[in-house]
Amino acid sequence: MVGLLFDCVANPLGAVRLTFEKAVSSGSDPVIFNGKDWGVFDIFREFLFNKDGLSQVPILDHASISWLPPNSLVRFRGMVQDMLGNELYVGAFKDGSTWKTNKFMDVASSPMDPSSEMRIWERRVLYCVPVPGQASWVSPPEAAIDRCQSSTSQHGEKRQREDNAAIDHMDSDVLEHETKGSPPSAKKMREDELPCKSSQQQEPPSEETPSLLHMVPDFDENSLPCLVKVYDSPESDLKLNDVFEFIGVFTYNLELTTQKDDSDEFFGDLCDDTVGDVPSIKVPHLHCLVHRKLGVQEFLHCSPIIEPVPNIIRGIREALLGHLMSVLGNDGVAAHCMLLHLLSKVHTRVDTVAVGRLSLNLTGFTRESISVFGNQLNLVIQSLLPLTRYLPLTLEYLNASSLAPRKDYRTNRLVTGVLQLAEGTHVTIDETQLKVGTLNSTGVENVRLLKNLMEWQKVEYDFEYYKVEMMADAQLLILSEGKSNILPADLVLPFHPSTVGSFESRDAEALQAWRWYLSNVKSLPHSIEPEIQKTVENDLVEARQADRNLGTHDFSRLLTMARLMSVSFGETCLSLEHWQMVKELERLRLERLK
Ligand SMILES: *[C@@H]1O[C@H](CO)[C@@H](O)[C@H](O)[C@H]1NC(C)=O
Ligand SMILES: *[C@@H]1O[C@H](CO)[C@@H](O)[C@H](O)[C@H]1NC(C)=O
Ligand SMILES: *[C@@H]1O[C@H](CO)[C@@H](O)[C@H](O)[C@H]1NC(C)=O
Repeated sequence: MVGLLFDCVANPLGAVRLTFEKAVSSGSDPVIFNGKDWGVFDIFREFLFNKDGLSQVPILDHASISWLPPNSLVRFRGMVQDMLGNELYVGAFKDGSTWKTNKFMDVASSPMDPSSEMRIWERRVLYCVPVPGQASWVSPPEAAIDRCQSSTSQHGEKRQREDNAAIDHMDSDVLEHETKGSPPSAKKMREDELPCKSSQQQEPPSEETPSLLHMVPDFDENSLPCLVKVYDSPESDLKLNDVFEFIGVFTYNLELTTQKDDSDEFFGDLCDDTVGDVPSIKVPHLHCLVHRKLGVQEFLHCSPIIEPVPNIIRGIREALLGHLMSVLGNDGVAAHCMLLHLLSKVHTRVDTVAVGRLSLNLTGFTRESISVFGNQLNLVIQSLLPLTRYLPLTLEYLNASSLAPRKDYRTNRLVTGVLQLAEGTHVTIDETQLKVGTLNSTGVENVRLLKNLMEWQKVEYDFEYYKVEMMADAQLLILSEGKSNILPADLVLPFHPSTVGSFESRDAEALQAWRWYLSNVKSLPHSIEPEIQKTVENDLVEARQADRNLGTHDFSRLLTMARLMSVSFGETCLSLEHWQMVKELERLRLERLK
């Protein structure tokens, strides 16, 4: 194609329409019959990734939603929190003698005559939320978004005009007429001023409210969920709790969402039990054109250009280790264990064992030391990792909180829980506030959940009549006094600070390098050459002879530590030196446990 005939950002549906017309006019019946892609995705992929269009696409979030024009191209970063099944819709219909499409739209592109020929197509509906525990420094990537951000009054007016246009549109929309014998006409709705007033909303917004957000019952101000409609993508492509960037057509206004309820009914009536039970939710919609899975490293938008060569990595490692040392009151063993822990991740599963995890239990905290070091450590971890959670484990907390996600059959939604987390989230569990006492059944269940997470990296989701085990990958750090014994961590280390820790704020450049380091080196491939393998095996046999209690999980832990030590230097192959460092670290750690 020579040049683009349409503006992909301002008018993505133009591209949809044009390519559809072209496909139809070239006699592409399959397109009409099943709605499979007719070249739209390629156009957008080309625009976004080869023509550097991505940076022009504004981010959809709580701040931008009030000025983003409907039907424009946006991107949304979020975790798949719930999968709402498949939805059938009128994908194509005949307008006179011309086929038209409604793909990537909430409402029909033009009036549909109920007697005209139609094709029912299918799309998947995902409920996505901002990634839980995302650090505030994870700022959205740069985007040229200012074009709509002129003055408030101006875009207020603009919005109003668009709303009216949408209402006019609905006026003639067949979906509406089809379901209700005589629907409230759009004109009547306009007379009522706010169509939503009459329905379930208690608090209509005042005239000057720039944002529609607070009319939406489903979410809090700073956390904007999004209903993502996915087309032509294999089921296995998008899983619960995966994190994606979705790029697609943005639609959102209350008129549309009100109308959506009706269209659901319509589809329900029309297609009976074939339609998935998709609940209607009043949140913005994104009709997805392109999606890409995001790993933790993609949360660092302004990554420094660091060459991942061992020399440079070694330097970053030293500096970071020094930082951890000072935060941990000069406890070198703790700093080394912490570094390995921060680099850990589940990289494979062998039977039920999650290989690669390395939970760390720092014990021996007192009331005083936890208030000094605990807070500091927390801040440091939050400043280093993009996704973190902090659980203050008390009896009250255990008794009262919902850790596991739970299916609510009344609303047909998965109600999230504290442990519904994206892969790679760091979780600090502060056990120091835990007193002796009794737990009720919720509390007991929560302890069991935490224990399973720690041992197996799994979380059981509660579907009332049965449980569903979901694989997890959480880095677990426990701060404890060392009295209770509820959770089994991989590394237990009595914490021995020798100075009051100091937490000077570091310069931004160092911080960025550490973030880059922590999220990147953990994914390095790693192997053990036969020669080193032999040494390792001999050492393990020897260790076993010295201590009959050593079991497979100890060996597995040592091998994990060896791998982590190695990658912490940016090495992809275990060296004798690094293996010896692990053995020494273990010796020092075990000495403290005596
Ligand atoms: C457990 O106790 C908490 C308050 O401590 C209460 O809110 C909760 O409903 C109780 N759960 C059960 C199952 O008794
Ligand atoms: C937790 O529940 C148990 C059992 O009902 C109760 O005895 C205990 O007081 C509760 N603890 C808190 C802190 O709510
Ligand atoms: C941490 O270690 C202490 C001391 O061994 C133990 O009492 C506590 O239960 C452990 N906590 C976890 C979460 O492993």
